[in-house]
Amino acid sequence: MEAKTATGAIIASKLRSDFRERYGTEAKVVRAPGRVNLIGEHTDYNDGFVMPVAIEPGVWIAIAPRADRKLRAYSQNFSESAEVDLDESHPRPHGHWSDYVQGLAVMLQKNAGYQLRGANLLIFGDLPIGSGLSSSAAIEVATGLALLENSGSTINRVELAKLCRGSENEFVGAHVGIMDPFISCNGRAGHALMLDCRSLDYRLLPIPDGVDLVICNTMVKHALATGEYNTRRAECEEGVRRLSQRLPHVLALRDVSVEDLDRYGKDLPENIYKRCRHVVTENVRVRDAAAALEKADLAALGRLMAESHVSLKDDYEVSCLELDLMVDIAAQIDGVYGARMTGGGFGGSTVNLVDKKAVPDFQRRVVSEYEKGTGLMPQIIVSTAAEGARDVEA
Ligand code: GLA
Repeated sequence: MEAKTATGAIIASKLRSDFRERYGTEAKVVRAPGRVNLIGEHTDYNDGFVMPVAIEPGVWIAIAPRADRKLRAYSQNFSESAEVDLDESHPRPHGHWSDYVQGLAVMLQKNAGYQLRGANLLIFGDLPIGSGLSSSAAIEVATGLALLENSGSTINRVELAKLCRGSENEFVGAHVGIMDPFISCNGRAGHALMLDCRSLDYRLLPIPDGVDLVICNTMVKHALATGEYNTRRAECEEGVRRLSQRLPHVLALRDVSVEDLDRYGKDLPENIYKRCRHVVTENVRVRDAAAALEKADLAALGRLMAESHVSLKDDYEVSCLELDLMVDIAAQIDGVYGARMTGGGFGGSTVNLVDKKAVPDFQRRVVSEYEKGTGLMPQIIVSTAAEGARDVEA
């Protein structure tokens, strides 16, 4: 069952009573968390390594069965309802939040063979949307669990993560990797999760007491994010195509070592070489970071986070002025072990590992210096490492 944070319990109980008011029946409630990624950025779709953490903000869904074959969903964030026909013969996305609900229903029924029941759903999220904290994975995972629960079915968490990625890739049309739904499904309180995105083997690494995860939302959403994300994927594939001519065992950038790249990288076009160098060195950093976390060596982890940010900025070119400023401000503050951009980039948020005692001063300084530098008021979220998706007991 969901470990009850005070806010989580209040949200779930409010959702139950709102559900009663809207639909006139009792409901079950599930919650799926958002995430930050400590290190391992743009490596998941290269079969590499990532180290995400589930966070307290997430998506809650209240659900109860309907007699017909419809899903009737109401989003409290958008103050809007939507209807999905479970028997629709040619389901199509509409560029609407309900695509995430419909996509999961399609994947569960058509790809995984589940027989779903109709349902009323009430959805609420306290994750800022489009801020690099995986609000889309959270709604997908919560929808998947809620629809299965409502239909009397269960699912293996790795399978659910794969179906959520499938929904994004095949239904919604975003070519994202497995990291976000995987951590939302499998996160553990107090732990980061080190995931091998090829085998999907993972291990949980305890985050030492005494540090908080502090998320700084730049409040910037860059319009080019989706297009540039797809371009980076294509550049990585091009790198694989070229390098595999010399190194036939290379199926993904995961298979390229730093030595391989030193040796054969000079034949690559400059931009492809830089993208490959980020991915290849980032994979090494994630493994080093796992070793550092295992020894509770936060100083070493912090150094790797700083190197990761520089690599994302200079080689992968997915940072932006606001993210760089946010990281620079954090790096000057006492009690900060590590700071870097997190998620896809081009805006969104940074993740900071901050000594608990230093958090109030950190918040004050980030707000004042970031506002001075950009004219924008950042959003700061302090979180512990939270549980993965769960039913929430009444
Ligand atoms: C987004 C995608 C993930 C991952 C990150 C970058 O969050 O959803 O799959 O590729 O970007 O690490």
